[in-house]
Amino acid sequence: MKMSREQKYRLIEEAGEEELALLKQQVKQSPWRQKYHIQPSTGLLNDPNGFAYYQGEYHLFYQWFPLGTDHGMKYWYHLKSADLSDWQDCGIGIAPGDPQDSHGAYSGSGLEHEGQLYLMYTGNTRDNNWIRHPYQCMAVMNADGQITKWDQPVIREVPSGYTDHFRDPKVWRAGEQFYCVIGAQRENGTGSIVVYRSPDLAQWEWAGELSTSLTAFGYMWECPDYFEIDGQGVLLFCPQGLQPESDKYRNIYQSGYVIGDRMNMNTLELQHGEFHELDYGFDFYAPQTTEGADGQRIIIGWMGLPDIEYPTDQQGWAHCLTLPRELHLRNGKLLQKPVPALADRRGSKASFSGRFTGRQQVPDFAGEAYELICTYTAEDEQDHVPNEQSAVTAGQASVFGVELRTGENEKTVIGYDAQTQKLTLDRSAAGKPFAESYGTTRSCVLDQPLRQLHIFVDVSSVEIFVNEGEAVFTSRIFPSRGSQGIVFFAENGAVHLQAEKWDYL
Ligand code: FRU
Repeated sequence: MKMSREQKYRLIEEAGEEELALLKQQVKQSPWRQKYHIQPSTGLLNDPNGFAYYQGEYHLFYQWFPLGTDHGMKYWYHLKSADLSDWQDCGIGIAPGDPQDSHGAYSGSGLEHEGQLYLMYTGNTRDNNWIRHPYQCMAVMNADGQITKWDQPVIREVPSGYTDHFRDPKVWRAGEQFYCVIGAQRENGTGSIVVYRSPDLAQWEWAGELSTSLTAFGYMWECPDYFEIDGQGVLLFCPQGLQPESDKYRNIYQSGYVIGDRMNMNTLELQHGEFHELDYGFDFYAPQTTEGADGQRIIIGWMGLPDIEYPTDQQGWAHCLTLPRELHLRNGKLLQKPVPALADRRGSKASFSGRFTGRQQVPDFAGEAYELICTYTAEDEQDHVPNEQSAVTAGQASVFGVELRTGENEKTVIGYDAQTQKLTLDRSAAGKPFAESYGTTRSCVLDQPLRQLHIFVDVSSVEIFVNEGEAVFTSRIFPSRGSQGIVFFAENGAVHLQAEKWDYL
């Protein structure tokens, strides 16, 4: 969709009732509305914002442009949940349009302080010459859920040495101090992160640039996030401008992390290892984390990317959020696991367990919104019984996996090559094609042989958790309604497959 500047920078009140009704009507007719993912009622959703556990509930906001599927005037839309599975709609959280956020309430984060939830965000403004002036702003939510914006920014100036690409504050507390990281572009055209500190969330003082070893790694780093797990420092960010390198960096922009020692809050140094992508799928960006009720670290991402046209753009809505995932650290990498409360959504169940060879549909395995767990084990060569201890090797089956949303001419294929230990998601025949210039397959070589695929399928998406979160593939797909088959396959041999599937409402 291509809207004019005037059309994009309108507030919701500026749209007539007729226009909104038309948009809603259009959305209603879309065959790709999700059943259990967070999606916008109309218009465009992007980054998760302000994710926080506050007074016994998880609060979550997302970037929202209500009036079309272009990136226009951004609001924060608000939801809350007791369990991270069942979300209650709370309406608009932050509306833009004041001098400090005249052209959008851009991304930011939330933190509880003195009984209130502080929401720090970037106020996007443009002057008469369309020059951008970003401000870092604050809004505060009280225990009754009322949100009040402060009319003065808490950080007014872009520090010298940086461009107007300066946004997405993520706040945290360390001892008596508050800190925030902000995504920034240096004047030399490289991406970076800067740090501010504050005693009270109101007065912010420049601390300096975060020192990493990635000094020239893309032209802008969006949506930084810093937290600690098991005594290690984890920095998430979204570098823009990386070139693809074999299976890596295949999407238009990347989202990943580095792990190292804790950030040194005096020198702002972060000693870290290599950059890893968070997700190997086609559609994952701008994630945000929070600490959960039990101290666990939870991440939610935007299941979409900027600057890509999606098939629902013509249907009045675009994008959804990923399912919430718990982060764990293992061998210097992050593992992602779907949060346990998702299991409360499980409806009727189908299961299969047995020796599997060839390519076949198993009775009762079909659908468009479900959870599917496939566990693969080798079988004993003598008597063909499953050997729970061992993974399938190339000698037993060369390639195996599962096809989802299969129909007459459609399928989304997850295939594992036991020889190379490479898992591939192929959406070349998934349904309505889009973003094909970025390729139609995504692959990753697993650290361990494939033992488990834990898959969440919704009407227009798939999230695949591999080997208990060692790798995740998150992607939109746009199949026909009728394509609801599930096909298991094992080529050149046999695997022992245990499959369990639950319908989702
Ligand atoms: C990332 C991003 C952020 C910005 C927001 C605007 O997708 O570009 O950097 O704050 O989206 O909607």
